[in-house]
Amino acid sequence: MGIIIEMQNVSFIAEKQHIVQSLSYQFEEGKATALVGPSGGGKTTILKLAAGLLVPAQGAVYFQHEDISLMNRSQRLKFRRQATFVFQDSALWANQSLYQNMEMPLRIHFPQMPKPERDRRINEALAEVAYQKDLMMRPSKLSMGEQKLIAFARAMLCRPVLLFLDEWTESLDDHAAQRLINIVKAHKDKGNTLIFVSHDLRLVKYLADYVLMVTSGAITMKLTGAQLASDTDLAQYIEKGIYS
Ligand SMILES: Nc1ncnc2c1ncn2[C@@H]1O[C@H](COP(=O)(O)OP(=O)(O)OP(=O)(O)O)[C@@H](O)[C@H]1O
Ligand SMILES: [Mg+2]
Repeated sequence: MGIIIEMQNVSFIAEKQHIVQSLSYQFEEGKATALVGPSGGGKTTILKLAAGLLVPAQGAVYFQHEDISLMNRSQRLKFRRQATFVFQDSALWANQSLYQNMEMPLRIHFPQMPKPERDRRINEALAEVAYQKDLMMRPSKLSMGEQKLIAFARAMLCRPVLLFLDEWTESLDDHAAQRLINIVKAHKDKGNTLIFVSHDLRLVKYLADYVLMVTSGAITMKLTGAQLASDTDLAQYIEKGIYS
Protein backbone atom coordinates (compact mmCIF):
# COMPACT_ATOMS: atom_id res chain seq x y z
CA MET A 1 0.00 0.00 0.00
CA GLY A 2 1.18 3.51 -0.77
CA ILE A 3 1.07 6.81 1.02
CA ILE A 4 -2.19 8.72 0.68
CA ILE A 5 -1.39 11.86 2.69
CA GLU A 6 2.08 13.15 3.33
CA MET A 7 2.83 16.06 5.66
CA GLN A 8 6.29 17.48 5.06
CA ASN A 9 7.81 19.83 7.63
CA VAL A 10 4.44 21.39 8.32
CA SER A 11 4.18 24.35 10.68
CA PHE A 12 1.04 26.18 11.71
CA ILE A 13 0.96 29.50 13.49
CA ALA A 14 -2.06 31.13 15.13
CA GLU A 15 -1.96 34.38 17.06
CA LYS A 16 1.82 34.49 16.67
CA GLN A 17 2.16 31.10 18.38
CA HIS A 18 3.50 27.95 16.80
CA ILE A 19 0.67 25.45 17.26
CA VAL A 20 2.46 22.88 15.08
CA GLN A 21 6.17 23.01 14.29
CA SER A 22 7.95 21.14 11.47
CA LEU A 23 5.71 18.11 11.57
CA SER A 24 6.32 15.34 9.07
CA TYR A 25 4.21 12.22 8.73
CA GLN A 26 3.10 9.82 6.03
CA PHE A 27 -0.41 8.37 6.33
CA GLU A 28 -0.75 4.97 4.70
CA GLU A 29 -3.44 4.24 2.19
CA GLY A 30 -6.08 1.71 3.27
CA LYS A 31 -5.15 2.01 6.95
CA ALA A 32 -6.82 3.58 9.97
CA THR A 33 -4.69 6.04 11.88
CA ALA A 34 -5.89 7.41 15.21
CA LEU A 35 -4.71 10.69 16.73
CA VAL A 36 -5.01 10.61 20.50
CA GLY A 37 -3.83 12.87 23.28
CA PRO A 38 -4.83 15.49 25.81
CA SER A 39 -7.30 18.29 25.11
CA GLY A 40 -5.63 21.21 23.42
CA GLY A 41 -2.77 18.96 22.28
CA GLY A 42 -3.26 19.81 18.61
CA LYS A 43 -5.20 16.82 17.24
CA THR A 44 -7.84 18.87 15.43
CA THR A 45 -5.23 21.26 14.05
CA ILE A 46 -3.12 18.40 12.67
CA LEU A 47 -6.20 16.67 11.24
CA LYS A 48 -7.28 19.87 9.47
CA LEU A 49 -3.75 20.45 8.15
CA ALA A 50 -3.66 16.87 6.83
CA ALA A 51 -7.02 17.48 5.12
CA GLY A 52 -5.88 20.73 3.55
CA LEU A 53 -8.45 22.70 5.53
CA LEU A 54 -5.78 24.78 7.23
CA VAL A 55 -2.96 26.29 5.23
CA PRO A 56 0.48 25.62 6.70
CA ALA A 57 2.74 28.60 7.41
CA GLN A 58 5.60 26.39 6.26
CA GLY A 59 5.91 23.00 4.65
CA ALA A 60 3.48 21.16 2.42
CA VAL A 61 0.78 18.51 2.48
CA TYR A 62 0.43 16.04 -0.39
CA PHE A 63 -2.60 13.97 -1.35
CA GLN A 64 -1.55 11.08 -3.58
CA HIS A 65 1.73 12.96 -4.15
CA GLU A 66 0.04 16.21 -5.28
CA ASP A 67 0.71 19.33 -3.19
CA ILE A 68 -2.79 20.31 -1.98
CA SER A 69 -1.95 24.02 -1.95
CA LEU A 70 -0.93 23.88 -5.64
CA MET A 71 -4.01 22.02 -6.88
CA ASN A 72 -6.06 23.73 -9.55
CA ARG A 73 -9.83 24.05 -9.15
CA SER A 74 -10.73 20.73 -10.73
CA GLN A 75 -8.01 18.82 -8.81
CA ARG A 76 -9.18 20.44 -5.60
CA LEU A 77 -12.81 19.53 -6.27
CA LYS A 78 -11.81 15.94 -6.95
CA PHE A 79 -9.77 15.88 -3.74
CA ARG A 80 -12.71 17.25 -1.73
CA ARG A 81 -15.01 14.62 -3.19
CA GLN A 82 -12.59 11.82 -2.39
CA ALA A 83 -11.54 13.05 1.04
CA THR A 84 -14.32 14.22 3.35
CA PHE A 85 -14.26 15.54 6.89
CA VAL A 86 -16.54 15.20 9.89
CA PHE A 87 -15.89 18.17 12.12
CA GLN A 88 -15.73 18.00 15.91
CA ASP A 89 -18.51 20.61 16.06
CA SER A 90 -20.42 19.09 13.08
CA ALA A 91 -20.10 22.35 11.09
CA LEU A 92 -23.48 22.20 9.39
CA TRP A 93 -24.50 25.30 7.44
CA ALA A 94 -26.64 27.12 10.00
CA ASN A 95 -28.76 29.09 7.53
CA GLN A 96 -29.64 26.06 5.39
CA SER A 97 -32.15 23.32 6.08
CA LEU A 98 -30.92 19.82 6.85
CA TYR A 99 -31.99 18.81 3.35
CA GLN A 100 -29.95 21.62 1.82
CA ASN A 101 -26.99 20.63 3.99
CA MET A 102 -27.21 17.13 2.59
CA GLU A 103 -27.88 18.21 -0.95
CA MET A 104 -25.00 20.67 -1.27
CA PRO A 105 -22.09 18.21 -1.70
CA LEU A 106 -24.02 16.31 -4.38
CA ARG A 107 -24.86 19.54 -6.21
CA ILE A 108 -21.20 20.59 -6.10
CA HIS A 109 -19.61 17.29 -7.02
CA PHE A 110 -22.28 15.78 -9.27
CA PRO A 111 -23.96 18.79 -10.91
CA GLN A 112 -25.53 16.57 -13.58
CA MET A 113 -27.15 14.21 -11.08
CA PRO A 114 -30.96 14.34 -11.39
CA LYS A 115 -32.90 15.33 -8.29
CA PRO A 116 -34.54 11.90 -7.81
CA GLU A 117 -31.08 10.31 -7.70
CA ARG A 118 -29.85 12.99 -5.26
CA ASP A 119 -32.85 12.33 -3.04
CA ARG A 120 -32.31 8.58 -3.24
CA ARG A 121 -28.70 8.99 -2.12
CA ILE A 122 -29.65 11.38 0.67
CA ASN A 123 -32.35 9.02 1.96
CA GLU A 124 -29.98 6.09 1.78
CA ALA A 125 -27.27 7.94 3.74
CA LEU A 126 -29.78 9.06 6.37
CA ALA A 127 -31.27 5.58 6.67
CA GLU A 128 -27.79 4.19 7.33
CA VAL A 129 -27.39 6.48 10.34
CA ALA A 130 -31.05 5.93 11.31
CA TYR A 131 -31.99 9.62 11.16
CA GLN A 132 -35.72 9.95 10.63
CA LYS A 133 -36.82 13.47 11.55
CA ASP A 134 -37.98 16.33 9.37
CA LEU A 135 -35.30 17.47 6.92
CA MET A 136 -36.74 20.95 6.52
CA MET A 137 -35.51 22.01 9.97
CA ARG A 138 -32.44 24.16 10.51
CA PRO A 139 -29.48 22.50 12.27
CA SER A 140 -29.93 24.64 15.40
CA LYS A 141 -33.16 22.75 16.16
CA LEU A 142 -31.19 19.51 16.54
CA SER A 143 -29.33 18.12 19.52
CA MET A 144 -25.54 17.91 19.26
CA GLY A 145 -25.81 14.17 18.69
CA GLU A 146 -28.36 14.58 15.89
CA GLN A 147 -26.14 17.19 14.25
CA LYS A 148 -23.31 14.66 14.37
CA LEU A 149 -25.49 12.10 12.56
CA ILE A 150 -26.30 14.55 9.78
CA ALA A 151 -22.66 15.68 9.48
CA PHE A 152 -21.56 12.06 9.26
CA ALA A 153 -24.20 11.15 6.68
CA ARG A 154 -23.22 14.25 4.67
CA ALA A 155 -19.56 13.19 4.69
CA MET A 156 -20.44 9.72 3.38
CA LEU A 157 -22.66 10.94 0.53
CA CYS A 158 -19.95 11.24 -2.09
CA ARG A 159 -18.46 7.85 -1.17
CA PRO A 160 -15.03 9.09 -0.12
CA VAL A 161 -11.88 6.99 -0.24
CA LEU A 162 -10.42 8.93 2.66
CA LEU A 163 -12.37 9.93 5.76
CA PHE A 164 -11.18 12.47 8.30
CA LEU A 165 -13.17 12.07 11.49
CA ASP A 166 -12.83 14.38 14.46
CA GLU A 167 -14.51 12.89 17.56
CA TRP A 168 -17.36 11.64 15.39
CA THR A 169 -19.03 9.57 18.10
CA GLU A 170 -18.94 12.30 20.75
CA SER A 171 -22.42 13.27 22.08
CA LEU A 172 -24.07 10.18 20.60
CA ASP A 173 -25.90 7.55 22.60
CA ASP A 174 -24.33 4.07 22.59
CA HIS A 175 -26.60 2.70 19.86
CA ALA A 176 -26.03 5.59 17.50
CA ALA A 177 -22.29 5.57 18.20
CA GLN A 178 -22.10 1.85 17.50
CA ARG A 179 -24.00 2.31 14.27
CA LEU A 180 -21.49 4.91 13.04
CA ILE A 181 -18.57 2.77 14.18
CA ASN A 182 -19.95 -0.15 12.17
CA ILE A 183 -20.33 2.03 9.09
CA VAL A 184 -16.77 3.28 9.45
CA LYS A 185 -15.45 -0.25 9.99
CA ALA A 186 -17.26 -1.50 6.88
CA HIS A 187 -15.90 1.47 4.96
CA LYS A 188 -12.38 0.60 6.08
CA ASP A 189 -12.85 -3.08 5.25
CA LYS A 190 -13.50 -2.04 1.66
CA GLY A 191 -9.93 -0.70 1.54
CA ASN A 192 -10.63 2.96 2.30
CA THR A 193 -8.45 5.11 4.53
CA LEU A 194 -9.37 6.60 7.90
CA ILE A 195 -7.61 9.31 9.82
CA PHE A 196 -9.47 9.98 13.02
CA VAL A 197 -9.36 11.67 16.40
CA SER A 198 -10.91 9.99 19.40
CA HIS A 199 -10.79 10.13 23.17
CA ASP A 200 -12.33 6.65 23.28
CA LEU A 201 -9.55 4.13 23.79
CA ARG A 202 -11.85 1.16 23.12
CA LEU A 203 -12.76 2.61 19.75
CA VAL A 204 -9.10 3.34 18.98
CA LYS A 205 -8.17 -0.25 19.83
CA TYR A 206 -11.00 -1.57 17.67
CA LEU A 207 -10.27 0.47 14.55
CA ALA A 208 -6.72 1.76 14.47
CA ASP A 209 -3.81 0.22 12.60
CA TYR A 210 -1.64 3.07 13.87
CA VAL A 211 -1.99 5.26 16.92
CA LEU A 212 -0.28 8.62 17.16
CA MET A 213 0.03 10.38 20.49
CA VAL A 214 -0.26 14.13 19.90
CA THR A 215 1.04 16.48 22.57
CA SER A 216 1.88 20.18 22.22
CA GLY A 217 1.34 20.06 18.47
CA ALA A 218 3.80 17.21 17.90
CA ILE A 219 3.57 13.46 17.38
CA THR A 220 5.28 12.24 20.52
CA MET A 221 4.69 8.51 20.04
CA LYS A 222 3.65 6.14 17.28
CA LEU A 223 2.29 2.67 18.00
CA THR A 224 0.66 -0.01 15.95
CA GLY A 225 -2.86 -1.09 16.87
CA ALA A 226 -1.42 -4.54 17.65
CA GLN A 227 1.07 -3.06 20.16
CA LEU A 228 -1.76 -1.19 21.87
CA ALA A 229 -3.90 -4.33 22.03
CA SER A 230 -1.18 -6.58 23.44
CA ASP A 231 0.65 -4.28 25.84
CA THR A 232 -1.51 -3.29 28.81
CA ASP A 233 1.17 -0.98 30.28
CA LEU A 234 1.33 0.90 27.02
CA ALA A 235 -2.47 1.02 26.83
CA GLN A 236 -2.59 2.48 30.34
CA TYR A 237 0.06 5.03 29.43
CA ILE A 238 -1.92 6.07 26.35
CA GLU A 239 -5.13 6.21 28.36
CA LYS A 240 -3.47 8.53 30.84
CA GLY A 241 -2.28 10.70 27.95
CA ILE A 242 -5.76 10.78 26.42
CA TYR A 243 -7.49 11.81 29.59
CA SER A 244 -4.84 14.08 31.12
N1 LIG B 1 -6.93 29.52 15.17
C1 LIG B 1 -6.39 29.42 16.40
N2 LIG B 1 -6.12 30.52 17.12
C2 LIG B 1 -5.54 30.41 18.34
N3 LIG B 1 -5.22 29.25 18.93
C3 LIG B 1 -5.49 28.14 18.25
C4 LIG B 1 -6.09 28.15 16.95
N4 LIG B 1 -6.24 26.88 16.52
C5 LIG B 1 -5.76 26.12 17.54
N5 LIG B 1 -5.32 26.87 18.55
C6 LIG B 1 -4.72 26.36 19.81
O1 LIG B 1 -3.94 25.23 19.50
C7 LIG B 1 -4.06 24.25 20.51
C8 LIG B 1 -4.48 22.95 19.90
O2 LIG B 1 -5.84 23.02 19.54
P1 LIG B 1 -6.62 21.79 18.92
O3 LIG B 1 -8.04 22.22 18.72
O4 LIG B 1 -5.90 21.31 17.73
O5 LIG B 1 -6.52 20.71 20.10
P2 LIG B 1 -7.21 19.28 20.25
O6 LIG B 1 -6.11 18.32 20.58
O7 LIG B 1 -8.05 18.98 19.08
O8 LIG B 1 -8.11 19.47 21.55
P3 LIG B 1 -9.53 18.78 21.95
O9 LIG B 1 -9.18 17.39 22.42
O10 LIG B 1 -10.02 19.62 23.09
O11 LIG B 1 -10.42 18.83 20.78
C9 LIG B 1 -5.02 24.80 21.55
O12 LIG B 1 -4.29 25.35 22.59
C10 LIG B 1 -5.78 25.86 20.77
O13 LIG B 1 -6.20 26.89 21.61
MG1 LIG C 1 -10.08 18.74 18.83
